Amino acid sequence: MYFYLPTRIYSERDSVKKHGNEWACLGRKALIVTGKSSAENGALQDVIEALEKQGTSYFVFDETQQNPSVELVLEIRETGIEQQVDFVVGIGGGSPMDAAKAVALMLAHSDKGAEFLYERNIAGEQDYDAAFPVVEVPTTCGTGSEVTPYAILTRHDTCIKASLPHKIYPAYALVDGKYLLGTKREIIVNTAVDTLGHFIESYINTNATDFSRMLCEYGLGVWRSVKNVLIGAGLTVQECDAMMFSSTLAGMAIAHTGTALPHGLSYYLTYENGVPHGRAVGYFLPGYLAASGPMIRKKILSYAGFPDMQYFTAFIHRLLGAEKMDEKLMKKAVSGLMSNESKLRNVPFEVTEDLLYRICNRYSQ
Ligand SMILES: [Fe+2]
Repeated sequence: MYFYLPTRIYSERDSVKKHGNEWACLGRKALIVTGKSSAENGALQDVIEALEKQGTSYFVFDETQQNPSVELVLEIRETGIEQQVDFVVGIGGGSPMDAAKAVALMLAHSDKGAEFLYERNIAGEQDYDAAFPVVEVPTTCGTGSEVTPYAILTRHDTCIKASLPHKIYPAYALVDGKYLLGTKREIIVNTAVDTLGHFIESYINTNATDFSRMLCEYGLGVWRSVKNVLIGAGLTVQECDAMMFSSTLAGMAIAHTGTALPHGLSYYLTYENGVPHGRAVGYFLPGYLAASGPMIRKKILSYAGFPDMQYFTAFIHRLLGAEKMDEKLMKKAVSGLMSNESKLRNVPFEVTEDLLYRICNRYSQ
């Protein structure tokens, strides 16, 4: 059994400022990759304060959009080269954090073009995944990107979102639930459902081990303790801490196992219909859970605090509302996934076209 996670994780109040003497000294100049909202939740301010305290220069790129594209990554790399940065700080949800990893990879391979991003990793090529050091500061409670080696970008050449084959582990993950305070309910719900998806897809996964299952079992318990606030009003700071913690635990689990069918299917809904990531994943969770073995399904429902599948499906419906995948998109998603070997390999039962159609249809039933 094996577990590898080289990221230093600090999960506590004011982790950014408290540990600035470590992470802010990773280089002489930092490229901060973020979106506009990080200025509002205080994360950008904390990062800047920590860098200034250590006398480290920085440049802020705050125009990262949702579902960053390959083209955007190349644009940010050009800025990084011009600014002569030597490490990258990602602040935000999955979009800026994933973009930060991809930019760090491309900065370390400044002679390479866009095609390098999706070149398959060749075993034994030591520096193939070499990237500038990355520090991640999550401000949503879903992606877990702060502890995973994955970066998912939008590819307009193949019209889909796809994970890079490179593994880029952040050097530091600085986790602090306070950044969730005041976040729109819709974003909390979507990202918390993404976290639930990470737990379920990691648990029902060919690569699962006792290490990753332990993270899922404990993490689902943390998620369970706050799941009802997703239906209610705003979150307290303690509830924010729990949501953020469960997201990081789920990230640690998928760093080990990868994700499975719901994530693979979700990318089509996001690319074609603009459905936010966690919400898109949520649509396929009841179907994936229903397709798994009865014992494992029972365990997951119990850890997550649902008495049965009916209750689980009703909860997801209540959170996400109705969504119907049109026939054309469903066909595209099913045939795309049937040829996605890396996702199929993670599924511990036989996947047929018929099964995928059932998973797609299950939500609207
Ligand atoms: Fe996800």
